[in-house]
Amino acid sequence: MRKHIVAGNWKMNNDLAMTQSLITELKKQSQTSNAEVMIAPTFTNLWSAFETLKNSKIEVIAQNMHFAESGAYTGEISAEMLKSVGVQTVILGHSERRAYFNETDELLAKKVDTALNNKMRVIFCFGEELVDRKSGNHETIVENQIKKALFHLEADNFKNIVLAYEPVWAIGTGETASPEQAQDMHGFIRKTLAKKYGQETANSVSILYGGSVKPTNAKEIFSKPDVDGGLIGGAALKADDFYAIVNAF
Ligand code: 13P
Repeated sequence: MRKHIVAGNWKMNNDLAMTQSLITELKKQSQTSNAEVMIAPTFTNLWSAFETLKNSKIEVIAQNMHFAESGAYTGEISAEMLKSVGVQTVILGHSERRAYFNETDELLAKKVDTALNNKMRVIFCFGEELVDRKSGNHETIVENQIKKALFHLEADNFKNIVLAYEPVWAIGTGETASPEQAQDMHGFIRKTLAKKYGQETANSVSILYGGSVKPTNAKEIFSKPDVDGGLIGGAALKADDFYAIVNAF
């Protein structure tokens, strides 16, 4: 069975004290679902997050990393650095990285390779913009993003890949893809994987939905057969809301 995952992407929010206090609130929540729960604080607070989370099942993950193993890349963070504080999973390809930091599919392919070579798990994000959705090109855009960044991999690599479909028009806008739109796209993504790697591999990959998931809409979105979890932005910054989403499975 595919893993259910709910991951909170905190983006550039929460300083050290706020990180510790949100984690303390998260630890008080009770989990009734079987989803794997992850949080992605900013780099400077990863170590403290691990310390504050001791004896909890919540996994601390990173929001990004560089493709090089080390070297003269001022301001960047390597896989080794993340692993040295305990991080085993990294989000790559978030639309904000693509839009504001010019991350291309070609660059992301390199980052994915580096993460996998370092035995890390990747949550790989992609999704179309509003103009693509309006013109009916959303499937082609998504197919190309996946092909360019991931289709050089072997089927076996997908044990360490989680996909996150995040339509750009739904991120932070309050506008969510309808459960049907999410299911249609997730079904299409799984079909695309199956064509290249076979049905067994395609069935084993968790595909998360991200974009204005809230306690009020999570249950309906998660009820769809190809939606295996969520990547949560704004609602992950409040412990009660985040756990209402975690428990929506
Ligand atoms: P929102 O949940 O705030 O729309 O953000 C989604 C997201 O970008 C998660 O990575």
